[in-house]
Amino acid sequence: MSPLPARRLLISAAFCAAIAGFSVAFAAGFDLPTRRTDLTDADARRVAEVTRPTTDFSRAEQYEAMQAGGATSIDPVTEDSFSHISATIPFEEEQPFRLGNALFKKLWVSAPSSTQASDGLGPLFNARSCMSCHLKDGRGKPPEGGVSATSMFLRLSRPAATPDEERAIASAEIVNFPDPIYGHQLQDLAVPGLPSEGKMAIRYTEEPVTLAGGETVSLRRPSYSVTNPGYGPLDPATTLSPRVAPAMIGLGLIEAIPEADILAHADPDDTDGDGIHGKAAIVRDHRTGRTALGRFGWKAQNASVRDQTADAFSNDIGISTPDRPDAHGDCTEGEIRCRKMPTGVQKRIGNEEAPGPILDLVTFYSANLAVPARRKASFPETLKGKQIFYQSGCTACHVPKFVTRRDSLDKAQAFQLIWPYSDFLLHDLGEGLADGQQVGLASGREWRTPPLWGIGLTQTVSGHSFFLHDGRAKNLTEAILWHGGEAQKSRDAFASLPKDSRQALITFLESL
Ligand code: HEC
Ligand code: HEC
Repeated sequence: MSPLPARRLLISAAFCAAIAGFSVAFAAGFDLPTRRTDLTDADARRVAEVTRPTTDFSRAEQYEAMQAGGATSIDPVTEDSFSHISATIPFEEEQPFRLGNALFKKLWVSAPSSTQASDGLGPLFNARSCMSCHLKDGRGKPPEGGVSATSMFLRLSRPAATPDEERAIASAEIVNFPDPIYGHQLQDLAVPGLPSEGKMAIRYTEEPVTLAGGETVSLRRPSYSVTNPGYGPLDPATTLSPRVAPAMIGLGLIEAIPEADILAHADPDDTDGDGIHGKAAIVRDHRTGRTALGRFGWKAQNASVRDQTADAFSNDIGISTPDRPDAHGDCTEGEIRCRKMPTGVQKRIGNEEAPGPILDLVTFYSANLAVPARRKASFPETLKGKQIFYQSGCTACHVPKFVTRRDSLDKAQAFQLIWPYSDFLLHDLGEGLADGQQVGLASGREWRTPPLWGIGLTQTVSGHSFFLHDGRAKNLTEAILWHGGEAQKSRDAFASLPKDSRQALITFLESL
């Protein structure tokens, strides 16, 4: 095999100054491929052909309804539509998937307990199982009517404060700086005998918006705070970043998109002048220690499903794994009582509360949940909406299709034509959506374009229609109206469409 052709992505001093607020003159280089190495020239031509954006909206494109290629689930639509196994998983791997599913649902308990293989919860935690937040493998939602915020939490961090800290971020050594007492995330629950870290409080202000034709929509603008902080005040520099749990479908396929194909859409300096930047999130893959393209999480802060899974075990549930071996999870040295609590490590099982095989199984499960087939993809109303989606510039970020790596380690993900409707890059979506929290290369105004596949089944699977990183949008129309920054032109195009055209666009989104 020929060596990987690499390009150095230079992070300019101007960019560092922009995110840090002061000037540091240095450049960090990351080796990332500019060209796929898994294809013959003939295959590369075929891939370019099938991924070219369509210009024909008179009928559905070939394979378009099978939005995850051969891995698509064609089971009838039910509330379990996000819980099916990828159709490409061979029979002999159904057993590990089922075991992973059981572990995803497993309720962890606090140590010490009589059920030793299940203990180790916390000491601080947000939920007792993965499923509590990713209910039915679907998306979470903000709390309503005083009910606690299970499927949503606040990430905590402050910006870099010194040139050394800025260098650590620019070189992807770390992604941010936790609150000195509360750590990376506000855990609103704790094991018996320990105070929790406090509660997330949301206050909404209604803001009416008028669309073409006179229809008005009331957007709710949230503001976040922490009530009853259990360990004293938060650091004044700590920012709060609200996150709801995303749906769990198609994640292994996203991991199998070649880096070069995602980077091909990046245009951090907007050299083509279309107002769309698209910045690659460069992060550290915790397992290999190498820099890699971040793809998961609302700010693309994790490179792999495994990293995201180990992170969830540690921060969300307080369970240690070989990748995140601290059995006290997100308890900081400042939370003295927390660090003295018993852990669930059983030496006869291993050095962690969830040893390697458990992390492997949950990762496998998380990577292989099928994306459901589209409904009504060839209906005239859907096709009209699809055309408007293209014409309104939505595809500049919600990139329709990719072909996954041929040499993917997991054959079930290899060489599939997939339709995630995302470029997996970071974009500035304006002040309205900004959380002010820098995460790695993502500024306080930047978010990763989320994939849109499956979005039309949100109501069916999750029983609600709250969208965006903090679930502030009550429906798809509101989700679009919150777009600003690089997406302002798209948002304005949508708002000025006649009502039936807006409806057609929503019909298209609902068919995904
Ligand atoms: C307390 C709620 C909660 C729990 C428990 C939880 N998650 Fe999540 N999950 C989230 C949130 C919120 C995000 C988005 C995180 C971000 O953007 O920083 C997320 C993101 C993810 C993602 C990335 C999805 C994407 O599209 O980028 C994966 C994979 C994931 N979680 C797996 C798991 C697994 C596996 C577990 C159990 C070990 C788990 N989660 C437990 C709330 C939770
Ligand atoms: C400049 C890039 C960009 C453009 C252009 C863009 N989007 Fe988005 N879109 C994003 C990002 C980034 C988010 C996540 C924002 C957040 O959660 O705060 C998002 C979120 C969404 C969501 C909610 C997804 C979810 O999982 O909650 C929908 C729906 C959506 N976009 C549809 C559209 C439509 C329709 C258009 C065209 C009218 C459009 N977008 C144009 C980048 C873009």
